[in-house]
Amino acid sequence: MCGIVAYIGQKDAKPILLEGLKLLEYRGYDSAGVAVLTDAGVEVARAVGRVAVLEDKLEQQAKSGKAFAGTLGMAHTRWATHGGVTEINAHPHQDDQAGIAIVHNGIIENYAALRKLLEEKGHTFQTETDTEVLAMLIGELYAPSEGVDLEKAVQAALREVTGAYAIVVMCAQEPDVLVCARKGSPLIVGVGNGEYVVASDASAIVRHTTQAIPLDDYNVCRITREGFRTSDLQDEQVSPKVMQIEMDLEEIELGGFTHYMQKEIFEQPASMRNTLRGRIDHNEGKVVLGGVAGFAKELVKAKRVILTAQGTALHSAMIGEYLLEDLAKVPTECEYASEFRYRNPIIEDGTVVVAISQSGETADTLAALGEAKDRGALALGVVNAVGSTIARETDAGVYLRVGPEIGVASTKAFLGQVTVLTLISLFMGRRRFMSQVECEQLLTELERVPTKIESILAQADEIRKVTEKYVTKENWLFLGRGYNYPVAMEGALKLKEISYIHAEGMPAAEMKHGPIALITDGMPAVFIANRGAQYEKVISNIEEVRSRGGHVIAIATEGDDRIGNVAEDVIYVPDIPEPLSPLLTVVPLQLMAYYAAVARGHDVDKPRNLAKSVTVE
Ligand code: F6R
Repeated sequence: MCGIVAYIGQKDAKPILLEGLKLLEYRGYDSAGVAVLTDAGVEVARAVGRVAVLEDKLEQQAKSGKAFAGTLGMAHTRWATHGGVTEINAHPHQDDQAGIAIVHNGIIENYAALRKLLEEKGHTFQTETDTEVLAMLIGELYAPSEGVDLEKAVQAALREVTGAYAIVVMCAQEPDVLVCARKGSPLIVGVGNGEYVVASDASAIVRHTTQAIPLDDYNVCRITREGFRTSDLQDEQVSPKVMQIEMDLEEIELGGFTHYMQKEIFEQPASMRNTLRGRIDHNEGKVVLGGVAGFAKELVKAKRVILTAQGTALHSAMIGEYLLEDLAKVPTECEYASEFRYRNPIIEDGTVVVAISQSGETADTLAALGEAKDRGALALGVVNAVGSTIARETDAGVYLRVGPEIGVASTKAFLGQVTVLTLISLFMGRRRFMSQVECEQLLTELERVPTKIESILAQADEIRKVTEKYVTKENWLFLGRGYNYPVAMEGALKLKEISYIHAEGMPAAEMKHGPIALITDGMPAVFIANRGAQYEKVISNIEEVRSRGGHVIAIATEGDDRIGNVAEDVIYVPDIPEPLSPLLTVVPLQLMAYYAAVARGHDVDKPRNLAKSVTVE
């Protein structure tokens, strides 16, 4: 949610900042801006729309002699929270006296009170944003003649602020200094040779260096070309933790695909093999999870598991609830993190709370985790982004290992989450009630899933054709039962978020309790109708839709020759034990959403109003 990149070193900052912005654009793309410290002072350019619009603007300015030449600068791509999507509201923001420029991710909650105070002191605001308030506050406190330099002014300003922030600040009066800080919103300092790249996301750093310092909450980092110093808001020195960024450049490049979402859907066989690698012990019929091994006893004795997440990750949690109760026989519930955090949840002895998140930065999930920890739960993470806040705040966890997910619509992370939740269920189940043979059978089947996904992906063209038949319809239903009810929810979410088609996902039986009234002639209804315990019931629900004129698209098991009699279109997936079936049935739904968005001419990787990683409540 919003992207930050900043540079200080020997090289021309502008191209580095623009390249970084393009890599971060998936985090927000309402507007973008750049500030470079040049001989003439701080030069700022901002534009509404994509980074390409900003790039054009900079090219025009270069032709008229404004080259933005300098070796220190910062840039931002915005997802609006305060203030409309206008050029004036785009970052960087500046103060009105000290030559301060700032880029900011997050929300300053007490900005209205601070703004009033600053207005009383005579400051005039140009924008409606909380970020400009922070720029003014830093400027107001900046007093180099009294020993309050940029670093100290930032520390003092942040002591006054409530809310979340990742900021980078520069000042025309200190032309060799960048100051950055974080609380609740990620910020990483990439440490190169005589140069530093600060970014909200490692993807903008990895081309320059793989050595990085992920800042902790309330850390302030003062960077010059000669070195850096990390402190807290009281100016106490803090020892930085250096980490290695493990990311291949190919992982963040399109590599021949048209969209990241398409690439990530097709990557799933490989990403799932990575998730499984080294985690299955066939000799013992056991799952090996190094990340939670230290808490094996607590997991085996767990009395209750609560899975918490948002969006797609919540759908994987819903599948996790079925898996944990079915395979590990542990009472499990699953809850939106945004609800869990505020509803005074009861956490008894033996409760394990699992936070599921691709980014590891989702504000609601992070807050739910904090609430669970305060109440004494063992807190586990199922996270993709290595070193992210949720990964660091949990007692233990299991990484997804699916690589960076750049498409805003989550696909391979969902598959990774369901895979990890299956592994955790088998890890606990085998140590609680499951025999070696039973566990081994499922593990062998689990290892076959990537090859089975390959066979679904091979039908992509067929799936595209089926989708295109219905792509003009504005209302769709997605229906499933048991393990595949959350898959129906996920199918509907995918279709909504990138094709802007209204879609509802629900348990197939629920349809009769109201939504059936929506079914009109030709309305598409996608049924997950693979073979399983409730197959016959699903067929009855299909008949109910058909008899009201709905058009049924069935996701069915290979070899099911009955389904063709009741469905207009059938997409087949290989046979698989029911607990593992979501790993297959979701893939055609991801492809349908993708092809629908392409057919409707939408920007698949940057759907309207959305952004990757929701770091605000
Ligand atoms: C949908 C999607 C979102 C995220 C949700 C949680 O495609 O990506 O619904 O799943 O915002 O994000 P993470 O997993 O980063 O916590």
